[in-house]
Amino acid sequence: MNKTKSIVVASLMAGLGLVSCTENGSKHRNPGKIYAPDMTYSRAYDAYTANPNFADGQTSRKPIAGTVAMGHELPDHMVEGDTNGYKAFTTSMRFNEAEMAEGKRLFNIYCGVCHGTNLDGQGPLYVSGKFAAMPANLKDAKYLRMPVGTMYAAIKYGKGVMGSYASQLDVKQRWMVIAYIKQVQAANGGDAFAFGATATAPAADTAKAVATTETAKH
Ligand code: HEC
Repeated sequence: MNKTKSIVVASLMAGLGLVSCTENGSKHRNPGKIYAPDMTYSRAYDAYTANPNFADGQTSRKPIAGTVAMGHELPDHMVEGDTNGYKAFTTSMRFNEAEMAEGKRLFNIYCGVCHGTNLDGQGPLYVSGKFAAMPANLKDAKYLRMPVGTMYAAIKYGKGVMGSYASQLDVKQRWMVIAYIKQVQAANGGDAFAFGATATAPAADTAKAVATTETAKH
């Protein structure tokens, strides 16, 4: 009697289990009726497959000419050694007091050791005699009106024995450091400071300043 009972119970349970499995399984796997099959089953090309719709046959497209990635200001076509391009290169970024203070902090960390925290080229590394080349005296007439883009190129690629700081400073940080240098230069006979958050018509001012410097040089 007991044996029969347990066989019945066991087969009932097994049956239930089977039923529930199939039911659940089919519920999840069958999407039912499809309203718009071409939306359900995408006809898009995979990124790295051949594509007859484009002349070069590639699905993966290049960014449109002049595209600038988020957080970057430098167009990709600017290359090392394009000194004229960099002379005219500037930024529309403007910095508040906290950002200016950050620019100063970064300058003192990365540049001060050579250029001096006074920007006079008398940093401790140079003064110690361990660094042979005199770092630019950024208060000297030679650098007072240096275009900001030229400074940017010096930070990005390095200049002479000065190495590149591209890996230490991101784009915004580079401009914050340059803005700080320009602020100090403005107080020492350089062009009027144009990177302050409240400066009026700053872009035009900067462009004019850059143009003036270029004319003065030639
Ligand atoms: C290891 C020392 C050293 C450090 C650190 C250094 N520089 Fe220089 N820098 C130099 C020397 C040396 C020159 C002169 C290069 C030349 O004229 O050949 C120079 C030149 C420059 C110039 C003039 C570029 C030109 O086109 O003439 C700028 C602007 C400048 N540095 C900015 C910076 C900034 C900003 C930093 C920090 C991010 C920095 N430097 C860090 C040594 C240094």
